[in-house]
Amino acid sequence: MTDVAGRTARNAVRTGRPTLAVVGATGAVGSVMLQILSQHADIWGEIRLIASPRSAGRKLAVRGEEVEVVALTEEAFDGVDVAMFDVPDEVSARWAPIAVAKGAVVVDNSGAFRMDPDVPLVVPEVNPHAVRVRRRGIIANPNCTTLSMIVALGALHAEFGLRELVVSSYQAVSGAGRSGVDTLRRQLSLVAGTELGTHPGDVRRAVGDDTGPFPEPVALNVVPWAGSLREDGWSSEEMKVRDESRKILGLPTLPVAVTCVRVPVVTTHSLTVHARFEGEVTVDKAREILATAPGVVLFDDPAAGEFPTPADAVGTDPTWVGRVRRALDDPTALELFVCGDNLRKGAALNTAQIAELVASELSAP
Ligand SMILES: NC(=O)c1ccc[n+]([C@@H]2O[C@H](COP(=O)([O-])OP(=O)(O)OC[C@H]3O[C@@H](n4cnc5c(N)ncnc54)[C@H](OP(=O)(O)O)[C@@H]3O)[C@@H](O)[C@H]2O)c1
Repeated sequence: MTDVAGRTARNAVRTGRPTLAVVGATGAVGSVMLQILSQHADIWGEIRLIASPRSAGRKLAVRGEEVEVVALTEEAFDGVDVAMFDVPDEVSARWAPIAVAKGAVVVDNSGAFRMDPDVPLVVPEVNPHAVRVRRRGIIANPNCTTLSMIVALGALHAEFGLRELVVSSYQAVSGAGRSGVDTLRRQLSLVAGTELGTHPGDVRRAVGDDTGPFPEPVALNVVPWAGSLREDGWSSEEMKVRDESRKILGLPTLPVAVTCVRVPVVTTHSLTVHARFEGEVTVDKAREILATAPGVVLFDDPAAGEFPTPADAVGTDPTWVGRVRRALDDPTALELFVCGDNLRKGAALNTAQIAELVASELSAP
């Protein structure tokens, strides 16, 4: 293990059970993280809650106790073994290396380190082994859109060998943090009970110019945009799904086409997936794989009106898969509809699972 991890192990010995820091404890992801830490096996010693100076002194509940939030400073990492970062990219970029220098292993939820070749990008159901090869002392958590489908895809890839991916997302507003949720709720209150949505621009006039983190009104609408502009008209979110899927699956040249769309759903991303494999596939075999894959629930009986929707998947841990079909014009391809809670498996749950892998390593004799 590197000298970084070596120092971490000594911290764990000093405190008995490892000390965990949750940086960004007050945010959309951080709030779900506190629920998950309260529900999972209690493996941590101290859990320290960290946020911006704006939140210092606030008290938040975790493991049934009120814990005071402290401001992000170097001293906040004293004695910390594992630090989860649920903060904007620029905050992680600056502070994660500081936490590592203070002896912590960092599990980062932002986009700051995901494509760094010295930082593993880990989904415990797909590539758990990668967690140990952390040359910078940092482990990255994938983007919520990638995470909402990759557990199901990883299982199919292990059996069939993935050759191409075409994906469209239907992304919830909480993917843009607390301000995304606040924006949708405000806009819904302005359009509820009206006849709006029948004339060009009527929704836009009703909700006003402040569309929060979205470029267009999101209530009564779908917005084919998430993230910032990249080359040739692609969005940053679309590039993340492509780059991160390739890295997690270990397929650096996998052809991936993605269109990301924001929809008026509070939490839980959905995706349509067209996945092409090495050879012919059957729906029966695909269903067998999905029905037994850890972290996946197959919910697929259209005759009975059964398929996943965000309204049912929200607040749950698994990746829900339905509408499994073989492509009509290609016997090597499958069509799927996938739903995953973007704040649980899409963010906090996956981070917690990674941190638990690190904790078990630190606690090993
Ligand atoms: N939302 C999702 O579905 C999702 C999924 C996967 C990954 N992520 C990533 O997870 C991270 C957090 O996202 P979020 O949706 O939870 O955002 P959010 O709701 O806006 O929360 C941001 C958190 O970061 C803290 N913060 C902001 N600036 C800070 C600073 N200068 N110093 C210390 N703390 C600071 C905030 O503290 P205060 O409350 O004190 O301002 C808050 O706790 C982002 O990198 C995001 O891309 C989000």
